[in-house]
Amino acid sequence: MANEVHTIGVLTSGGDAPGMNAAIRAVVRRALTEGKQVKGIQRGYAGLLQEEIVDMNKRSVSDIIQRGGTILQTARCTEFTTSEGQEKGAEICKKHGIDGMVVIGGDGSFRGAQKLAACGINTIGVPGTIDLDIACTDYTIGFDTAVNTAMEAIDKVRDTSTSHERCSIIEVMGRGAGFIALWCGVANGAEDVLLPEKYDYDEQRLVNNIIENRKIGKKHHIIINAEGIGHSTSMARRIEAATGVETRATILGYMQRGGSPTARDRMMGSVMGAYAVDCLCRGKSNRVVALRENHVVDFDIDEALAMNKSLNDYEYDICYTLAR
Ligand code: ADP
Ligand code: F6P
Repeated sequence: MANEVHTIGVLTSGGDAPGMNAAIRAVVRRALTEGKQVKGIQRGYAGLLQEEIVDMNKRSVSDIIQRGGTILQTARCTEFTTSEGQEKGAEICKKHGIDGMVVIGGDGSFRGAQKLAACGINTIGVPGTIDLDIACTDYTIGFDTAVNTAMEAIDKVRDTSTSHERCSIIEVMGRGAGFIALWCGVANGAEDVLLPEKYDYDEQRLVNNIIENRKIGKKHHIIINAEGIGHSTSMARRIEAATGVETRATILGYMQRGGSPTARDRMMGSVMGAYAVDCLCRGKSNRVVALRENHVVDFDIDEALAMNKSLNDYEYDICYTLAR
């Protein structure tokens, strides 16, 4: 087990997610309460390499728990994927007295955290991504806000879809994962949901489904399409040509990443952020914080990154059953 730390750095990396600010606040205040010094690294690993490092006190994180985005800013940084970049990052940490680091981000950010830990900086990852695609954890900070934002937007599109008796293809985020799409599929009562983990690119099945639904009196047809499938606009053109049903595509985009975090994201950000500090105080390193069976736990990052995550087949099944 690595040694206990004295100065804790915190950074956010990869895509921003609602609730990251709650996690930053928790890291800062928990660490200060434990008698540690805290430094905020701006713009993720890019800011670390540029030495964009500021002292944090309890007032640095005032009035942020309700705000979306991340007050530390975030970035994607190619230089940090090289061993030279990682060693430079570790040297900069040492220069600033940072012997512990909390990295809030997705699995890409955890690969960076793993490298920082290997360079001698005690590092703990906190899962922050709207995609819910980190295998070791049942929850990632930002998912709840994003899925509720998408759900509310889809409800609005549905009004128009019903009024005009149209088919609507609505594309949601999630990178290669279908969690946001599946949840919207169930929560919005969609007629079809296209997930990267499940979709077989059989458009004829979609066409048949639309025609069958018209026969049983459905006035709209909502297709939730995951970003990992994409091509919503061209799909809409082909489906309209094949069915004769007016079809429109809506790509929800970055609105899903913004906005004030829900209570769940504020809660999980707060608990996971504080837990990361507790890990560092116990001398832990190369760990990732996770929620498992409603308990906050931590995993070895190497093991966490090797795990696989699958969609819940029962949820997928009932999405279709309940839409008939
Ligand atoms: P996320 O953390 O949301 O998955 P990315 O995959 O874009 O987002 O990763 C965020 C950043 O983490 C990257 O821009 C890069 O700086 C760092 N990173 C990603 N993969 C690695 C890697 N294999 N080694 C070191 N750093 C990495
Ligand atoms: O990881 C969050 C996410 O919004 C994904 O759903 C999406 O694929 C990606 O980030 C978009 O990244 P960028 O902000 O670089 O366009």
